[in-house]
Amino acid sequence: MLDRRFAIIGGAGKIGTAILNGMLGQRAVVPSQVVVTARHESSLVAPRELGVGATTDNCEAVRGADVIVLCVHPEDALKILDEVAAELSARQLVISVVTGLSTTAVECRLPPDVSVARAMPNTALHVAQSMTAVCRGARVSDDDLRLAVQIFEMVGEVEVLDERHMNAATGLGGCGPAFVFKIIEALAEGGVKVGLPREAARKMAAQVLRGASEMVISTGKHPAALKDEVTTPGGCTIDGIAKLEQHGISIALIDAVETSTCKAGRLLRE
Ligand SMILES: NC(=O)c1ccc[n+]([C@@H]2O[C@H](COP(=O)([O-])OP(=O)(O)OC[C@H]3O[C@@H](n4cnc5c(N)ncnc54)[C@H](OP(=O)(O)O)[C@@H]3O)[C@@H](O)[C@H]2O)c1
Repeated sequence: MLDRRFAIIGGAGKIGTAILNGMLGQRAVVPSQVVVTARHESSLVAPRELGVGATTDNCEAVRGADVIVLCVHPEDALKILDEVAAELSARQLVISVVTGLSTTAVECRLPPDVSVARAMPNTALHVAQSMTAVCRGARVSDDDLRLAVQIFEMVGEVEVLDERHMNAATGLGGCGPAFVFKIIEALAEGGVKVGLPREAARKMAAQVLRGASEMVISTGKHPAALKDEVTTPGGCTIDGIAKLEQHGISIALIDAVETSTCKAGRLLRE
């Protein structure tokens, strides 16, 4: 049980809701420990049904909180930080999941000594399988960092990184699920092309990804070694792999991660 009070700004959105569900689902908090905010009153209906506090007034929400989780889009974040800054003090921890926003950019808008950590989760928070990168700002204590890690461990795996890696964590961990959805879709299309029923093809494609991922994680083997183990010389798998390389699968994926990483770095400048 986390003995803290939480304000989740933008907590009615996709990421905020998933974090809230993770904390409630793990019984790390009871609803009365949490207040969520949204821009529109209509967005607060669902959180209220969970029994948490809900308001469109961000200042009111942060006033009683020990931890403020900022879950809004980059274009809204700076205005909200300016709005709540006067309400914040040294005892509070701000955890921002805002893409592209550095801890320094958050810190310099808040009173000195407010701790700021940053997290980059992904959409798999919804099934408690996120890969979340967490980094500390200049003023974050070890206890605060541990708390930030604990929150995201409720919805998946966590890697603590230096802040200079956060754009890369966005390009791979944050954007990665969408790349994999494309891969699953395309594998399923392949199955349909060779005659499999659509539902069966989609199920097979998704389970193939899950099974292969589980092997990499649970064996600790390099993916290339696992690939070699199942690629019989002169067999059918090597023909498929050769075709993938002919179409540039490796460079396409490398390029996708690099391009999304660069975009994450430009997000607040465009
Ligand atoms: N989705 C992902 O996979 C993902 C992954 C990693 C990081 N992120 C980052 O997480 C952040 C949130 O993304 P999301 O997908 O959760 O967005 P979302 O579903 O659109 O939710 C954003 C929420 O912010 C609320 N909001 C906007 N202005 C506000 C204000 N002035 N005061 C209080 N609440 C306000 C909105 O309220 P209303 O509903 O009333 O409009 C909405 O509930 C973004 O910075 C995104 O880049 C997202």
